[in-house]
Amino acid sequence: MINVAILGYGTVGSGVFEVIRTNNESISKKVGKKVNVKYVLDIKDFPADDPVNEVLCRNFETIVNDPEVSIVVEVLGGVEPSYTWTTECLKRGKSVCTSNKELVAKHGAELIALAKENNANFFFEASVGGGIPIIRPLNHSLSADEITEITGILNGTTNYILTKMSMEGLDFDTVLKEAQEKGYAELHPEADVEGYDACRKIAILTSLAYGKQVDFEDIYTEGITKITDADIKYAKALSKHIKLLGTSRKVDGQVYAMVCPMMIGKMSPLYGVKDVFNAVFVNGNMVDDVMFYGRGAGKLPTASAVVADVVEAARNLDRTLPMIWSKDKLELGSIDDFKHAFFVRVPADVVQEDVKKAFGDISVVTLEEMKDEYAFVTPVMKEKDFQNKVKDFKSVISVIRMNTK
Ligand code: HSE
Repeated sequence: MINVAILGYGTVGSGVFEVIRTNNESISKKVGKKVNVKYVLDIKDFPADDPVNEVLCRNFETIVNDPEVSIVVEVLGGVEPSYTWTTECLKRGKSVCTSNKELVAKHGAELIALAKENNANFFFEASVGGGIPIIRPLNHSLSADEITEITGILNGTTNYILTKMSMEGLDFDTVLKEAQEKGYAELHPEADVEGYDACRKIAILTSLAYGKQVDFEDIYTEGITKITDADIKYAKALSKHIKLLGTSRKVDGQVYAMVCPMMIGKMSPLYGVKDVFNAVFVNGNMVDDVMFYGRGAGKLPTASAVVADVVEAARNLDRTLPMIWSKDKLELGSIDDFKHAFFVRVPADVVQEDVKKAFGDISVVTLEEMKDEYAFVTPVMKEKDFQNKVKDFKSVISVIRMNTK
């Protein structure tokens, strides 16, 4: 029998409990031994008919000191106490499977090394892209390739918000509330809407792709809080969708990364990714383009990825599977040299000739219902050149980067 403990009975923790119970027969068959949830740690009380009451435990020490527990699922979220508890479990040779992107982005390299020292595994498939397999593919299936680009819709909450605003004309706050009710949003939803969650996820993917520590604090990050109904109307007029993208690229040996809303067109493989769905587009120098798609948040999809890690850990007790992510820091290049077209809204009294003089061959977009402003799209240019020119136009209403596909 393989005994598992789950730290936290929130959205993901209760999902992990449910997946292991519902699919117990097939999961146990895949492992070759019965998989049993011995403890669920939580300080809250639950309804009397919730089966969790049979295994509810109030004390982490009971779990870490129990030699029968070989796999611990950490789904508390946040860095502490997750970091301390994960460390203690790994030091006792217990494998840890987590969905906690804050923990992984900050301490991934160290916890992978600690797992190795203790003949255990530290797995985190669910930390990026919810139910989408992306960590294991990057680590194993794409190991023949040098990764040149990773671009993803990495946050389900913001994709849900942008989709509902665009397709149903709903306002930001209403849709955010819906996302919270569905269990997609973080406890503090600014982590979603300000792009911090996507930032940690692209930091994790980039660290794994290049085998070195990418500090999420180094990644330029913009969220979606400044996106308005008017921006969405312009995007529609241009046959574009606005998506929050996390991207990293390797150009001439230098790695660049950023998170920001982008207008993307129909030719982009990310264009049709709606609602809570995420997608991660990867380019490798041999395989060329591949894309991974699925539910990026939510109880059962995220739990599915966690439990797949439990199965992998159970199949590999007393053996550490290789994962290359060293503590050496990867210095990112400045985004100044990133190239995009830029969508810019200005008041109607901004002289178009001046705009043309500054940016060259622009295309102008006007909307019938917005007579006191217009928008223009610049040619593809470097970030620093755009920022240098746009600062002379003091009355700019909004700017959104645009991919030309
Ligand atoms: N709040 C996150 C999201 C949950 O919306 O994508 C999954 O990491």
